[in-house]
Amino acid sequence: MPQLTRRSLLTATAAAGLVGVAACEADGQQTAGRTPPFDPRDWASVRAQFALDPTVAHLSTYVFAPHPAPVRAAIEQHRAGLDRDPIGYLHAHEADAEARVAGAAMRYLGTGADGIAFTDSTTLGLGLLYGGLRLSRNDEVVTTTHDFYATHEALRLRADRDGVTVRPVELYTDPATASVDQIVGKLTAAVGPRTRVVAVTWVHSSTGVRLPIRAIADALAGKNLLLCVDGVHGFGAVDATPAGLGCDFLVSGGHKWLHGPRGTGLVWGSERGWSRFTPSVPSFDGRSLAAWVTTGRAAAATTPPGPLATPGGYHSFEHRWALADAFHLHDSIGRGRVAGRVRELATRLKEGLAGIKEVTVVTPRDPELSAGLVCCAVGDLRVDEAVGRLAAAKVVASATPYRDSYLRFGPGIANSEEHVDAALRAVRDLV
Ligand SMILES: Cc1ncc(COP(=O)(O)O)c(C=O)c1O
Repeated sequence: MPQLTRRSLLTATAAAGLVGVAACEADGQQTAGRTPPFDPRDWASVRAQFALDPTVAHLSTYVFAPHPAPVRAAIEQHRAGLDRDPIGYLHAHEADAEARVAGAAMRYLGTGADGIAFTDSTTLGLGLLYGGLRLSRNDEVVTTTHDFYATHEALRLRADRDGVTVRPVELYTDPATASVDQIVGKLTAAVGPRTRVVAVTWVHSSTGVRLPIRAIADALAGKNLLLCVDGVHGFGAVDATPAGLGCDFLVSGGHKWLHGPRGTGLVWGSERGWSRFTPSVPSFDGRSLAAWVTTGRAAAATTPPGPLATPGGYHSFEHRWALADAFHLHDSIGRGRVAGRVRELATRLKEGLAGIKEVTVVTPRDPELSAGLVCCAVGDLRVDEAVGRLAAAKVVASATPYRDSYLRFGPGIANSEEHVDAALRAVRDLV
């Protein structure tokens, strides 16, 4: 069998993506079988990078991302190489591939590589972080009632293990009318002299509320605590860097809004943050391994904190290494344009939903207090029933996995205005 080249794979996968999207393009300019060159300025061309079923409006790609063509191509290239010669390919490519991923992540985050740990998911990152922060029995973590299971459970496991106090605070009662002052006020009021960690979520997957992380960081400045953020629904959807947010830790998966390989993620930490962290999984960083081989103790190594916090072991490298290609695609489109597109589609959806009498939009209309997630209630209709009926109408939405459950959409770069309008029509038909 001829060896797969990167170029032939890119062409093949882009063509596969085009067949899918072409069928749902309103203007009909693109036809199946032709492979237009990728034009990052053209949203139809961006959509053509995805191989989604064209007969369905996929408005939940943020849950578990479809891979765009360059990511599929990179995965296939690495997989073919690893299957052909696992050790040879690994040794020949590991250093370059990891440097490429680190470089791409550094550019995206606007930081150095030393502060970035790579993981498999947001959940793994949160578990490592909240399990590894140096806290004593008398220390307290302030969190909120709005975070996802992964934050709450990581903190519960920590509290059960060594008695750290975890105090959840409610930041708003009505998400639709939440304000920056209210959120910052409630959070700062909850912080006391024993608080060492504030554990929050950038964009709540329970309501779509986007926390004003910068304002929170400014309000907490000068206090001896770490601001830790589950950033997964802002990462790749909102144009902001850790420095701009002002947090100490930003944890995310790569497989949601960034459309990175499934099974990827990262933890970015500030110098101050990492100085209060102890890893729990051995790193496979060359410096740690070399120190262990030569001195018998990896602790003698000069491994920087991010690589030191990166769980070692052999991984699904074909996915890990293709994370660089997701960042590159994102960069080629422009992070500001991606964020603008997400905002534009979410605004269209919110406005359309707000115009349906029986629908209550839960997510704030203000784009500064929201991102791409759009949550709503449809009269008294049970959320799982709404999701099922929408699926039958070929619209993929989800039910928020929280005690107060809402119907949730998340339009992103794989979507068109047509998809949003299809969702609005389908919601109208629910009532
Ligand atoms: C706020 C939030 N954090 C974390 C996760 C889990 O992400 P991951 O699959 O990257 O662990 C989810 C949902 O999947 C979520 O909504």
